[in-house]
Amino acid sequence: GLKKKEVHVLCLGLDNSGKTTIINKLKPSNAQTQDIVPTIGFSIEKFKTSSLSFTVFDMSGQGRYRNLWEHYYKEGQAIIFVIDSSDKLRMVVAKEELDTLLNHPDIKHRRLPILFFANKMDLRDAISSVKVSQLLSLENIKDKPWHICASDALKGEGLQEGVDWLQDQMQ
Ligand code: GTP
Ligand code: MG
Repeated sequence: GLKKKEVHVLCLGLDNSGKTTIINKLKPSNAQTQDIVPTIGFSIEKFKTSSLSFTVFDMSGQGRYRNLWEHYYKEGQAIIFVIDSSDKLRMVVAKEELDTLLNHPDIKHRRLPILFFANKMDLRDAISSVKVSQLLSLENIKDKPWHICASDALKGEGLQEGVDWLQDQMQ
C-alpha cells in the first residue's frame, strides 16, 4: 500500500497534565494500555492518521526530567503541549516552561506547529480553553501556527479535532 509520510512530534507539558493518556487514546484500541503510570524520562509512541504516520516523543513532565526536553527539539517537526486546565496553581509554571521552550534556539526561529490541549475539561475546577490561552499568553505566538483544543482525555473528547488540525499543518 501507499506509505504514509512520517512525522516526529514532541509531547510536552507538566507532569500529570495527561500527555500519556492523550497519546494512548490516539492509538488503535487494541494497542491501548489500561494502566497509565507517570512517564520516566520519555517514551516513544506511534499512531497513524489518514495521511500521516506519527512518531511521538512522550516526555516526562516531572521537574527532574524537564531538562531532557531540549535534547529532542531539533528532531521535532511539531509540538503537542498539554495543560491540566484544573491546575490553577501550576498554570504559571506551565507558562514558564512554555516560554522557555519558545525561546530555545532550536525552536525560536522555526515555524513549528504547536497544538495545545486544554485537558481535563471534565473536572469541575477546569477553566475554559479561552482562559487557558489568556493565562499562557498564546496570542503572543506570532511566528508559529498554533491551535488550542479543550479535551477530556479519559473519554477521548477533543482529541480528534486537535489531531486533524495538526495533520493539516504537516501535510
Ligand atoms: P507525566 O508522564 O508524569 O509527565 O504525566 P502525564 O502528563 O503523562 O499525565 P498522565 O497521562 O500520566 O495522566 C496523569 C493523571 O491524569 C492520570 O491519573 C490520568 O488518568 C489523569 N487524566 C489524564 N487526562 C485526564 C482528563 O482529561 N480528565 C481527568 N479527569 N483525568 C485525566
Ligand atoms: Mg506521561
